[in-house]
Amino acid sequence: MTTERKAYYQRLRGVFDDIAQTRGGYYDAPTGSQQRRHTPWQRLNRFHIKHLLAPLVHQQNLRSCLDVGCGMGDFSHELREHFNFERVHGVDFSPAVVEVARSHYADHDGLSFSVGDVTAGLSFDDRELDIVCCLNVFHHLLPADQNAAIDHFCRVARRVVVLEVKRFHILHRLLTGYRAMGMVDIYAVHIPAVLARFAEHGFQPITVRPIFYLHALSPIALLVMARSEEP
Ligand SMILES: C[S@@+](CC[C@H](N)C(=O)[O-])C[C@H]1O[C@@H](n2cnc3c(N)ncnc32)[C@H](O)[C@@H]1O
Repeated sequence: MTTERKAYYQRLRGVFDDIAQTRGGYYDAPTGSQQRRHTPWQRLNRFHIKHLLAPLVHQQNLRSCLDVGCGMGDFSHELREHFNFERVHGVDFSPAVVEVARSHYADHDGLSFSVGDVTAGLSFDDRELDIVCCLNVFHHLLPADQNAAIDHFCRVARRVVVLEVKRFHILHRLLTGYRAMGMVDIYAVHIPAVLARFAEHGFQPITVRPIFYLHALSPIALLVMARSEEP
């Protein structure tokens, strides 16, 4: 890893370590607050993911999910409860974040967490979990690491990958300057390039859903990708 790349991820990890220790578990809460709410777009993302996954889960009898960049575990928990999955595992590269997730969900059967960095690969067997979900994380990866992350998702997912991306969008750029929480960079993507990378692994789109319903209005999109061959 080059020195700049290492420094970038160290700084990023530091930001999330700090958030875990100071913001009561919610990324958009002011420092030190115990605010308990998600932003409307976080809620909308989660609503869409559950809605889009439901038919696949039932038709294909999907029973397990890996939540990459799981943060403090609340969406991993939500997925486990909503779909009654046998196993949901959350992985995150911030040890402080994983500690919070573990402390919140210590006695929840079928729900576990570990420290892991997607840029270093995912320490799971090929096709170990039915679904790989990655929400609100991909835009933090340096462009050179985004393709490799897709490779890892496709290796570990038996059937489905759900990936949330920030796509290039002029309004988003003007409003945020491509910074998240005013602190970290946002690396937006071109969706056709992302889909092409998935296609190399035999994953085709079931849906590309702009979370604000129209692509023109939405800098955030959800990609639901399914392995095209039979299991
Ligand atoms: C904005 S939070 C989103 C958390 C959760 N997925 C959600 O939507 O609530 C981004 C998370 O990604 C994690 N993250 C960032 N880069 C990562 C990497 N290279 N490997 C694993 N996790 C990473 C951060 O530690 C942080 O917890």
